[in-house]
Amino acid sequence: MPGLGELERYHAARALDGKPFRSACYAPTVSLYFHPTGRVQACCKNDRFPLGDVRRDSLAAIWRGARSGQLRDALRRDQFGAGCQQCAWQIESGNQLDVYTRIFDEFPVSAAVPEWPVMLEFAVSNACNFACVMCYGELSSSLRAQEGLPPLENPYGERFFRELREFLPHLKRAKFFGGEPFLAAETFRIVDAMVADGLRIDCHATTNGSIWNARVEKLLAAQPFSIAVSIDGATKETFESLRRQSDFAVVQSNLRRFHACTRAAGTSFSLAFCLMRQNWHELVDVLRLAEELDCDCFINTVTDPVGCSLFGLPEDEQRRIADVLEQAAAAAGTAIARNRAHLLHEVSSLRRHAQLELRRRLLKLRSTPPAVCGAAAAVAPALEPIAGPLLDRAWQLLAQGQHAEALTTLRAAETAPDAVKLDPARPLHLAAQLALETGDALKARERFERLLLLRPGHPDFRIGGAWAACAFGSVDFARREAAAVLRDHPGHAGALHLATLLPAAQ
Ligand SMILES: C[S@@+](CC[C@H](N)C(=O)[O-])C[C@H]1O[C@@H](n2cnc3c(N)ncnc32)[C@H](O)[C@@H]1O
Ligand code: SF4
Repeated sequence: MPGLGELERYHAARALDGKPFRSACYAPTVSLYFHPTGRVQACCKNDRFPLGDVRRDSLAAIWRGARSGQLRDALRRDQFGAGCQQCAWQIESGNQLDVYTRIFDEFPVSAAVPEWPVMLEFAVSNACNFACVMCYGELSSSLRAQEGLPPLENPYGERFFRELREFLPHLKRAKFFGGEPFLAAETFRIVDAMVADGLRIDCHATTNGSIWNARVEKLLAAQPFSIAVSIDGATKETFESLRRQSDFAVVQSNLRRFHACTRAAGTSFSLAFCLMRQNWHELVDVLRLAEELDCDCFINTVTDPVGCSLFGLPEDEQRRIADVLEQAAAAAGTAIARNRAHLLHEVSSLRRHAQLELRRRLLKLRSTPPAVCGAAAAVAPALEPIAGPLLDRAWQLLAQGQHAEALTTLRAAETAPDAVKLDPARPLHLAAQLALETGDALKARERFERLLLLRPGHPDFRIGGAWAACAFGSVDFARREAAAVLRDHPGHAGALHLATLLPAAQ
């Protein structure tokens, strides 16, 4: 979590004049996000602390419900533990410009619990014609089919659309994601409802750029629509290898249509770039395109899946990429003027990760973990008929270093018919340990934090979190955690192990 200094710098960089109270993030105070499964969240990032589900709850109950209240309260106290870890890390990394929370700062806040949200974000369908390498089946029907899973059931029925009509007049903005928003019937239905109710609402869609037809043109004319087109490569080869099932030429030509259409309407146009191992070398060229189009390019730093993430690379490789990107930015000069700051923030964030040389060394040191199975036993009491034994097997595989097999077995446990009976801490603990041992410190840290929310003060989870924190350079914190756990649990094997290794790793 960000320290006090980082938090103060973060708050100071925001324009919060006129807000009746200060909050680390106003998302739950101004907005709701609808996921294709029916889950309702405060924003697209926070899938760990759902506020409700449209299959069960009314929209009014979600907005005014206890979960929304808890999240608002936590953020008002600058606490990020209820699913807001990604933003906490952004703040910690000093990237004040691109902290996701900031998109919510622009909205007026009328009260601690406003009567209505002023923004709704609709990812109400996973219908998508692409199967991008960094995306997931819950967001892409094409990927879901490739995973061999049945189509998602559509949770957005008549009741949802009826209730939505009450919310629409209060909106200052509506955003459409997906899936591919221009393939979702729901997008058209929602905009039709705005028109039928005589409303004019700022709308936004992030699109893969593959769909342009009369229906889309009509939609864009129906409300003031801003558009972001996702461009994850500057060349056909890279683009089509990442955005699978795409056609680079079609997207390039549609992109210019969207650009012209938004310019004519006086709305905004932008590009979105998913920064990954596979395409970082084309970022500067995409920023040149943004300059040519005189638009912003938003950089989505992919951290998950870890196989795509720059942060999962060895630290010397991260540092090399940061150097190359910085040199390319300097060489590009004014040709990327508009988006230079975004690129430089990515570079410094990468450097920050790269600096933490301890990461690799500590992970090596961890190769003889002392208490993996002991730790498992601590949260593995009664066994259920299928899920429980599968989970035990996964722990054994993990202890034997068979990570891929452990992950497959964990997934099987999570989807077993009796998985609901599992104590949620059990699979989560295994997932956290697995992330730690396979070098995905970001995920490990987040999972241990969630475990500590489930079991405050649990010594194994504190030590797991401390190991993950080491990978981010928080060695002092890890040392303090080891000492504190040893104070409360003298002789705790994991704490002893950590305390013994840390000085050696300095
Ligand atoms: C899920 S997509 C939905 C809209 C549309 N289908 C598209 O691709 O633009 C919304 C945005 O998330 C980005 N995205 C996809 N997978 C991501 C990941 N693993 N991490 C960060 N951003 C991701 C996409 O590139 C896109 O800009
Ligand atoms: S186009 Fe968008 S929703 Fe579809 S697979 Fe790619 S990132 Fe996911």
